[in-house]
Amino acid sequence: MTDQQRAPGVPDQTRFHLDCLWQPLEDDPAGRLVFELRNTGDDPIAGFRLVFTTLRFVERDPLADNVRLIDRKGYFHEVAPPDGFHLVPGGAWRFSLGGITGEPQHRSEGIVSAYVTEADGERRAVVVGDLRRKASGERRASGAVAAQPFALMPWPAEVAIAPSDVLPGYLVPAEGVTADELSAVSTVTALFRRLFPIEPAPFSLMALPDDRLLRFATDTSLGREGYRLEFRADDILVAAADAAGRQYALTALGQLLRGARAGGGFRFPADGHIIDHPRFGWRGCHLDTARRFFPVGDIARFLDCLAYLRLNVFHWHLTDDEAWRLEIRGYPQLTSVGSVRGPEAALRPQLGDGPEASGGFYSHADVRALVAHAGRLNIEIVPEVDIPGHSTAALAALPALADPDEPAGAYASVQGFANNALNPAIDLTWTMLEAVVDDLAALFPSPHLHVGGDEVPHGAWQSSPLAVRLMADLGINDPEALQSHFMRRVQTMLRKRGRQLAGWNEVGNGAGVETEGTLLTVWQKATIGAGLAERGYDIVMAPAEAYYLDIAHSQAWDEIGMSWAGATSLEAAYAYEVGNDIPADLLPRLKGIQACLWTELIDSRAHFNHLVFPRLAAVAEAGWTPAPRKDWSRFQQLTRFCPSL
Ligand code: ACM
Repeated sequence: MTDQQRAPGVPDQTRFHLDCLWQPLEDDPAGRLVFELRNTGDDPIAGFRLVFTTLRFVERDPLADNVRLIDRKGYFHEVAPPDGFHLVPGGAWRFSLGGITGEPQHRSEGIVSAYVTEADGERRAVVVGDLRRKASGERRASGAVAAQPFALMPWPAEVAIAPSDVLPGYLVPAEGVTADELSAVSTVTALFRRLFPIEPAPFSLMALPDDRLLRFATDTSLGREGYRLEFRADDILVAAADAAGRQYALTALGQLLRGARAGGGFRFPADGHIIDHPRFGWRGCHLDTARRFFPVGDIARFLDCLAYLRLNVFHWHLTDDEAWRLEIRGYPQLTSVGSVRGPEAALRPQLGDGPEASGGFYSHADVRALVAHAGRLNIEIVPEVDIPGHSTAALAALPALADPDEPAGAYASVQGFANNALNPAIDLTWTMLEAVVDDLAALFPSPHLHVGGDEVPHGAWQSSPLAVRLMADLGINDPEALQSHFMRRVQTMLRKRGRQLAGWNEVGNGAGVETEGTLLTVWQKATIGAGLAERGYDIVMAPAEAYYLDIAHSQAWDEIGMSWAGATSLEAAYAYEVGNDIPADLLPRLKGIQACLWTELIDSRAHFNHLVFPRLAAVAEAGWTPAPRKDWSRFQQLTRFCPSL
């Protein structure tokens, strides 16, 4: 990984995994620590050193086996393998150290953190497993078995498993699996450890007697993102067609073990199979980071939450009236001015702001790190720059974007922002947008770039002499036609860079844009979605009445959230069935569904979690689970396992 892909708060790419076993010794109850460092990358390494930190530090002569202790200060230890040792892909370096300070009493007293320093000095993050010890006997699940005793979320397409009374230790790859398979297990281990830091991880790469072994197979018949789990007498077979399917299989296994460990009627499977694949290819969640700035670490964690729910698209709303959050080369004012709100700033304080100026934006390094993190979790990031409306921040940053002869207050958006549309009759609009689209294309591998297009105010452009002249030159006389002209020009810019246009449903207004490759996010009435599909647009349904997560749960006065689209209880979000809104013959145009999270009112983590979880899990299940398999009573029992930010 280059430094450009590193950002504080975003987990690094890892190619090493460290497990540790505590072994008591007859002559020393403090015992020793047995380590296994796995190379889960593609290249062999030699001449490296390992740094780890542990509370149980090596105090005395370390009884070192197959290791040199180079340095130890406090909890810091630096060790190296014997000279000439090569750690091959998939291979393990096993070593042990004795003379530790006392007997560990808890899982948390093992290795807390680690990194590898390669021969060239490059330091690489290491995934660290739980401290293991030999189990003192088989652990049995107790209590009554729940009606649907498996903590799977979203629910798979086909579940034919029987509950076990035995609680496995950890799930561990069998000998002989590839480095790539080890890496997949290590990645999902790290995901669970980040999401649930106080719970034991489901996986370990170090096998002990009560563990369940995992074997892997590739099965292309399972299709994109599909997987099959077979629970057999001696092992579990994990079959998938692609990396995403394998990740989802491992995530499902991790969920099953989390549930079984939590008890309350939940169990690990004894035998049987799960055969699973998604209902839709696009299972998304949008996040408005313009109204509210979220540090990159929060976004990384939100991506983790999406991955846990098998959501695969993060629709990242980067600009709006209230802020422009994406660094654009050549236009530093967009972020130096356009991302700051304050009493003396070009942008006034908005919902949640106090007397201090505040702001924040995402640098290219931040974006690269988040795109890489999302990619490792098989999530596509679709960035959104919301144009031509919702552009107050851009206009504040670059005043030359406005027609000087357009009167102040000529029109206003429903949110009360005056003169907030980019003007297609101004050359700077297009030179700036060229730079924006260049950077979007350079930063985001997604085939779709979202360019907004929603809520251009009535009256936009009509009082701009330059825009009126442009309309006359184009032979058009209504702003909707001018918006269509605007978006078609943007579509051409995207196509030149090999990308397709995504936008909100209003992009289809009037003559719209060319339908080929265009994907519209339908947030207004569901009938609009059917109409757009009929006209040849691909659509993603995000109906505000069901899937806008900023809408309050109920109409109770004490409830918090937005009310313009009514209220959406968890049950109502779960009950929404997109198939009722899109006629069968148009279903091929329905690419999927997504939740949207606008953040005007969300000024705390508690507020965020209250609105988002577990409603996001309801949307995830609608995106994944075949409609006939949905079951409200089962879903309700499982919401306790939902992650949160
Ligand atoms: C939107 O809610 N304005 C897309």
